[in-house]
Amino acid sequence: MCGIIGYTGRKNAVPILLDGLKALEYRGYDSSGISVFQDGRITTVKSKGRIEENEKKVNNEYPGLYSTCGTGHTRWATHGEPSDINSHPHTTENVSLVHNGIIENYAEIRSELCNKGYTFISETDTEAACLLIDSLYRESHDHLTAIKTALRRIKGSYAFGIMFGDNPGKIYAVKKDSPLICAVSEHGAFIASDITAVLKHTREIYIMNDGETAELSADSVTFCDAEGKHISKSPEITELSMEQAEKSGFAHFMLKEIHEQPQAIKRTVASLILNDITSYTAPGLTADRIKNCRHIHIAACGTAMHAGLVGKYFIEKNARIGVNVEIASEFRYKNPVIDKDDIFIAISQSGETADTLAALRLAKESGLFTIAVVNVKGSAIAREADGVIYTQAGPEIAVASTKAYTVQCCTLFMLSLLLGYHRGLMTKDVINERCRLLTDTAPQKINDVLKDSDKILSISKKIAEHENIFFIGRCIDSSLACEASLKLKEISYIHSEAYMAGELKHGTISLIKEGTPVIAIITENTLSEKTISNIKETASRGADITVICDERIILPKDVCSNIIYVPHIDSGLTFLTATVAFQLLAYHTANERGCDIDKPRNLAKSVTVE
Ligand code: G6P
Repeated sequence: MCGIIGYTGRKNAVPILLDGLKALEYRGYDSSGISVFQDGRITTVKSKGRIEENEKKVNNEYPGLYSTCGTGHTRWATHGEPSDINSHPHTTENVSLVHNGIIENYAEIRSELCNKGYTFISETDTEAACLLIDSLYRESHDHLTAIKTALRRIKGSYAFGIMFGDNPGKIYAVKKDSPLICAVSEHGAFIASDITAVLKHTREIYIMNDGETAELSADSVTFCDAEGKHISKSPEITELSMEQAEKSGFAHFMLKEIHEQPQAIKRTVASLILNDITSYTAPGLTADRIKNCRHIHIAACGTAMHAGLVGKYFIEKNARIGVNVEIASEFRYKNPVIDKDDIFIAISQSGETADTLAALRLAKESGLFTIAVVNVKGSAIAREADGVIYTQAGPEIAVASTKAYTVQCCTLFMLSLLLGYHRGLMTKDVINERCRLLTDTAPQKINDVLKDSDKILSISKKIAEHENIFFIGRCIDSSLACEASLKLKEISYIHSEAYMAGELKHGTISLIKEGTPVIAIITENTLSEKTISNIKETASRGADITVICDERIILPKDVCSNIIYVPHIDSGLTFLTATVAFQLLAYHTANERGCDIDKPRNLAKSVTVE
């Protein structure tokens, strides 16, 4: 949700900033801008639209723009529509500022500054921070004092990159509840919302903590804590590679990431089992804690919440512990009924989602033991949970989550085995067999789906012509239906709904008419006959049925117009091959409709505001 980049060094900052913004574009892409020092003052170029729009503006209106220091921003609008004026950086004569987050008391600050004679030109909350720092700098004539005083006044979440007009070559960075890293390369220093923005230049990263301030110049980065005392931080060398952050010949990141799933599952399972599944644990998740736990609460958003639904299915089945899956933004305000022995699990690809982070904090305050299932190392949710289980999806860049979802599901499946083991419901032999299925069989079978995607492509051509679609399934298949429906609507803009197959007849079936596409998912063998009955109910009312079906389930001939058979995997794991099938279906359908698959309308990958 908004991407920040900053560079000060010995190279031209302009292409570095624009390039960095392109790597961050998944975080928001309705407008962008850069600020650089030029001829002793700050020059800001910003525009509505994708980064390319601003790049054109730079090239056309500022040919030869050269500077060795600057900041850039790509926006996902919160306060004020996407427009040139509302874009960041916000710049005064003294200060230029880029911001990710929300300043909750901006209206108050704004009216105080207006009383002092300031004029606001944008509708953003960010401009209030910029003008506040400007006014405090006029009073103190000290850069750090102005920033620190402003931070005492500002409520909300922020990552700021700040430059002062009279301090060329210097960038200040501060954060609270929004991600920010610093990085050092051979030719200069960076700030960025995410490591991928600096990977071309360096792998030496400093992860910033809330309350810390970084001061960047061409040769160094120094840090101080919230009290202003200098602190020494050691860099981490990131394992991420440029290849992981590039499309590598695929038409879209989403397609690349769908194809990366076999390896992502292997890596994730391998990292969890070490030598023996029963040694797989999040720190603090002791056998006693597992035995005493009566309830598990899972909180997450979007696709991660759908992974939570799959996790609920497996934990209840394999460990016989009741699981509540909550949308994180609801959990925190619903006064949840919790017991001190309950366990809380936050699931998040980015580890930065504001609602999930807030739910985690509430669970911790309530005294629960908390586990985070997170993909991004060192992210806020990973750092704040009592124990963290890292998924090994690698960087996920397409806004629509695919590989992160499958590895979240696999991780929760593994967790269900561990919980079942400690509760005397699983033997080591059974568990080892399930792990073998995940590491050997599942990747092979997923590859089979990937190799044979032509059938899916031809069905997607028909789906692409419709505007309303229903997904149905029972038990785990109803959870898959939720994710299948979300995948389709977020990237193809086709309205779709997911229903538990048995529930459709209690109201929604009134929407089924001649030709309405209904996509049924059947991987749950024991319930196939029930789902087939529900399919028939809709077919009798004219629905055009497609079934994504375990190859071992025999469907009656007259039940549907399209069948996508997916390879069977034992122990309920056929959900993985069905998942890849519906991801491909969504992808091809969106492609057929000419949609911007990796950057769907109105969305952002990392949502760091409530
Ligand atoms: C946004 C993204 C979704 C994602 C959700 C949760 O809404 O568009 O794709 O599933 O955030 O993100 P997280 O990083 O917490 O998994």
